[in-house]
Amino acid sequence: MIRLIVAIDNRRGIAKNGAIPWDLPDDRRFFSEQTRGKGGVILMGKRTYDAIGHPLPGRRNLVLSKGHIPIPGAQIVNNLSILNTLSDVWVIGGADVYNQAISQAEELYLTHIEADFGCDQFFPDYSEGFIQKWHSEIKEQNGLKFWNEVLERISR
Ligand SMILES: NC(=O)c1ccc[n+]([C@@H]2O[C@H](COP(=O)([O-])OP(=O)(O)OC[C@H]3O[C@@H](n4cnc5c(N)ncnc54)[C@H](OP(=O)(O)O)[C@@H]3O)[C@@H](O)[C@H]2O)c1
Repeated sequence: MIRLIVAIDNRRGIAKNGAIPWDLPDDRRFFSEQTRGKGGVILMGKRTYDAIGHPLPGRRNLVLSKGHIPIPGAQIVNNLSILNTLSDVWVIGGADVYNQAISQAEELYLTHIEADFGCDQFFPDYSEGFIQKWHSEIKEQNGLKFWNEVLERISR
């Protein structure tokens, strides 16, 4: 199953000036717990890998890039057709990769942060094609309210 996981603000913003403009350790823990499960395979764009700076432990790290320079602890994949060869994969961003992969996604794991950070990169519009499967209660950390939601694709 192809799952996208992302944290978005009120305007579906995911990043500003190449970085995530909020600090929510509880959400990072949620992300880590989720992506270690259900196969534990993560796929990310090269710019997201560079923003993180290292492979994420306890998971198989796939980095999408047209380049070929090896990354210790990660596997470079040169195109998105890898998605069709995996039984379970978490697509963890960024905007470029979400845009290309959302049409194949069966589930979306969203963290909604109730604020506007003036982001310059965005998650694609998912308002059609998905229905809510689960949501958390509203949580609060570092002065921010946020909550989690899982959506599943309406059968095509
Ligand atoms: N809020 C969140 O939950 C969240 C999650 C993830 C990321 N982010 C943020 O998103 C930002 C990065 O997003 P982005 O859109 O700039 O970049 P990105 O999607 O992370 O990476 C784009 C790069 O991936 C490679 N790529 C993309 N599609 C490809 C394809 N079909 N075949 C081969 N390679 C492909 C290319 O790398 P090459 O140029 O090497 O070929 C491309 O330059 C960062 O600021 C990060 O912090 C936020």
